Amino acid sequence: MEKFVVRGGNPLLGTIKVSGAKNSALPCMAAAILTEDEVILENIPQVNDIETERKLLTSMGAEVELGYGRAQHRTRIKCAILSDPVAKYEIVKTMRASSLVLGPLIARTGIARVAMPGGCAIGGRPIDLHINGLEAMGATITQDHGYLEARADRLKGAHIVFDKITVTGTEDLLMAATLAEGESVFENCAREPEVTDLAALLIAMGAKIEGAGTGTIRIQGVSRLHGARHRINPDRIEAGTFLIAGAITGGDLNVDCCEPKHLGALITKLEQCGVKIDVGADHVRVRSGGELKAADVTTEEYPGFPTDMQAQYMALATQAEGTSTVIENIFENRFMHVQELIRMGANISISGRTATVRGKTPLQSAAVMCSDLRASASLVLAALVADGETILDRVYHLDRGYEHFEEKLRGVGAQIRRMGDVFGKK
Ligand code: EPZ
Repeated sequence: MEKFVVRGGNPLLGTIKVSGAKNSALPCMAAAILTEDEVILENIPQVNDIETERKLLTSMGAEVELGYGRAQHRTRIKCAILSDPVAKYEIVKTMRASSLVLGPLIARTGIARVAMPGGCAIGGRPIDLHINGLEAMGATITQDHGYLEARADRLKGAHIVFDKITVTGTEDLLMAATLAEGESVFENCAREPEVTDLAALLIAMGAKIEGAGTGTIRIQGVSRLHGARHRINPDRIEAGTFLIAGAITGGDLNVDCCEPKHLGALITKLEQCGVKIDVGADHVRVRSGGELKAADVTTEEYPGFPTDMQAQYMALATQAEGTSTVIENIFENRFMHVQELIRMGANISISGRTATVRGKTPLQSAAVMCSDLRASASLVLAALVADGETILDRVYHLDRGYEHFEEKLRGVGAQIRRMGDVFGKK
């Protein structure tokens, strides 16, 4: 398996560019199922989860073109005929966000078979809220042999209050409601920018949606949707990861092509840590403000501190003077990075959903193991300040959600390179 070799000690200096948001691109690609017309999405990140989504849509009969190149981070999708509305286990097991095709498939074709997404490293990841919502809209859903089968002649608008705030649950049902009969009102919705980005695409396709980005979304169902062209938001988690990379290395880094208004909770926290932040229209500059100070974090749904930034923040907290408590409220097992950080010399203890980080502790290089996308990013950040050369194994986790991660970091002074498997295997 491919590894990263990272030599710590270099402050990151210069400008680093942010790619399109994986977690916007995935629901927006699924939204193309809702029309037989062509949908074109710009600013698509070149990451493995997008390739997985391409395979998934193609396996159902869609035409999907993924063009990259310098200005071509674009995909063209045409779901004229969906000959096989099945999300097969071989694909779903590699990306649980495949459940995002459930709502669009049943809304467009009246039938959907989707392999139950297994859990993943960070938790059980159930989709009961997706299922309950579709049943409230009139779908009949059965489970057999690890698959969900959903059927409905035509979904009907419904009033749904989500038991818990769910990002892909909100997205899945939002897509289903666009073609349902009548009005839907959803309450306790996720307010993440990825939901708002998806709603912007759906409205461009002819959907009638009000309130996306707030806790209550109102949808008037229509009989069909048409094609559209849409530009995906910048990736706020990639941007946040780079901001922490600049802070932890004591550098002077300009994080470009981002959306600063999506980074409010993180920027506030970094300023509490004593980091200097200058916010521009589409970029954020981060500079060292001297010794880092400890600050507590509790992950919350947007606009609170993002769970997807918790692991990266913990790496920073190991370099701050004082004790930081990090509470993970969203997922039940999102401390996979802690043991690896401890192996590099961090002083962290866990009690339930609370990690207590005592800093500042010098980090030493070590051989470490990546376990999930954001835990892997946390280990890269730690390696950037560790003494010596850290070897990170199973970097395929990073390739799922960070485009050209090592090249971008090398471009601002990091000593990081990818090492193929000794036998040359990917
Ligand atoms: C999305 O996952 C993101 N993935 C995750 O990013 C992100 O961590 C998460 O939202 C929270 O922000 C994509 O958008 C593709 P949830 P999602 O449904 O939608 C529970 C990354 O690193 N829940 O908001 O799956 C669930 O177990 C990934 O890019 C139910 O109980 O998360 C969790 O505890 C990781 N039943 C909580 O709700 C359901 O039916 C929030 O999960 C659905 C969710």
